[in-house]
Amino acid sequence: MKARAIILKLGGSAITVKEKPFTANHSAIENLAREIAKAKVPHLVLVHGGGSFGHPLAKKYAISEGLKDPSQIIGFSKAHNAMTVLNQLVVETLIRRNIPAVGVAPSSFIITKSGRIEKMDVNIISKILEMGFVPVLYGDAVLDTRKGFTILSGDQLVASLAITFDADRIILGVDVDGLYTDDPKTDPSAKLIEQSKLNELKREHSWIDKAKVTDVTGGMRGKIIELIPAIEHGTRALIVNGTKRGTIYRALCNEKVKGTIIERE
Ligand code: IPE
Repeated sequence: MKARAIILKLGGSAITVKEKPFTANHSAIENLAREIAKAKVPHLVLVHGGGSFGHPLAKKYAISEGLKDPSQIIGFSKAHNAMTVLNQLVVETLIRRNIPAVGVAPSSFIITKSGRIEKMDVNIISKILEMGFVPVLYGDAVLDTRKGFTILSGDQLVASLAITFDADRIILGVDVDGLYTDDPKTDPSAKLIEQSKLNELKREHSWIDKAKVTDVTGGMRGKIIELIPAIEHGTRALIVNGTKRGTIYRALCNEKVKGTIIERE
């Protein structure tokens, strides 16, 4: 049987220095590349976030709000370009580890409608995978049929790719150990949710049903909400700490690892 795809998202928090604009976390990218090379999983799709490359410009020029003022136009170019710089850095690091990585700009094959993926030409990605390459995509500034342009998050992209390629699992590498009952950065009594069925999670955490994706700007809850369509499709989601050595390797190899697993049933 043909191995099903694995989609690995490297969160911006795991590969950039969040507080310092346009600063990559080189040693983290190095470690991740080493672990990805060691795991050698077939049919791997990589997606990375924007962190301190994409977000400051997206915010400065209000790209997610769509085109409202001509002064934003240059901002779209800057935000997209900043992402290509980060992408190149990630791709180069992977190639140094002998991983046949190929950077692909989501804005070149995806168009959104009011911030949601409307059209996605996946032929190129299919062919890239078929040939044994590792496509490396990212959250990007993309064109939007209603708003002119917007920001497509890596998380929305990950879920869409998981459904398209009937992925076995999504691994989200972030800078916390998984999904907590509360924000572990502000609430020390927050507990890690280790395993959950989607229905249980929805029952116990009303925010999942109440919140609309568009209301949730980032944060772990926003990420989970974006992943739901893929989990409903049958892809398992695993949220792990991508900054802890060995974690991504173990997650890729399907070994037991600290984190949160969410599955349909
Ligand atoms: C954001 O992508 C991309 C831009 C801001 C251009 P993500 O939303 O996936 O990035 P992170 O993982 O939260 O940093």
